[in-house]
Amino acid sequence: MSDTQHDTFSNRNITVLGILLLIAVFIGEVLIGPHSDEEVVVEVADTMEDIAMRIKPVVSIEDIRKNMSVASAAADAADKSPDQLYQSACLACHTTGAAGAPKIGDAGAWDQRLAKGLDALVTSAINGIGAMPPRGGSQFNDDQIKAVVEYILDESR
Ligand code: HEC
Repeated sequence: MSDTQHDTFSNRNITVLGILLLIAVFIGEVLIGPHSDEEVVVEVADTMEDIAMRIKPVVSIEDIRKNMSVASAAADAADKSPDQLYQSACLACHTTGAAGAPKIGDAGAWDQRLAKGLDALVTSAINGIGAMPPRGGSQFNDDQIKAVVEYILDESR
C-alpha cells in the first residue's frame, strides 16, 4: 500500500464516518430529540392541572356556605327564648301530638315521662327517641334543648 493509497482510504473513511455522524444526529433529532411543541404543551397543561389540584382549597365554597347557614341557624336560636325555640322546632309535633308525640299541656303524659327524671328526658330529646329525630331536627345546643324541655314541662303542669 503506497502513501497515496493510504491517504485516499483515510479520506473515504472520514467521509463515511461523517455521513454516519449526520445520520446519527438526524435520528437523534427526529426520533429521540426534544419533544414536539404539541407534546410540550400537553406536558405544561398536565403540570398546570397538577398545580391546580395541589392548590385546590381543602374547604370548598359550598362547605363554607353550609357551615355559615348552620352557624347562622345556631346564632338565630341563641337570640330566642325557650317558647320561641319550642315554636320553631317542637310545636309541629308536640302541639298536635303528631307521630304519637306527648302533647304540651298534657300533664298526665308528661308526668309519666318525668318519672325517669329531667336529665333522661333531655338526653332522649338530644339523641332522638322513637319517631322523634335528634334535637327534634333542630340545631339547638344541649342547653337550649334542656331549656325547651323545661318549658314544655312548665306548660304541662
Ligand atoms: C317530628 C316530630 C317531633 C318533633 C319535631 C319533636 N318531637 Fe319530641 N317527641 C316526638 C315523639 C313522637 C316523641 C315520643 C317518642 C317515644 O316515646 O317513642 C317525643 C318525645 C319527646 C320527649 C320525651 C322523651 C322521653 O324520654 O320520654 C321530649 C322531652 C321531647 N320529645 C322534646 C322535644 C323537643 C324539646 C323538641 C324541639 C326541640 C321536640 N321534642 C321536637 C316527636 C317530635
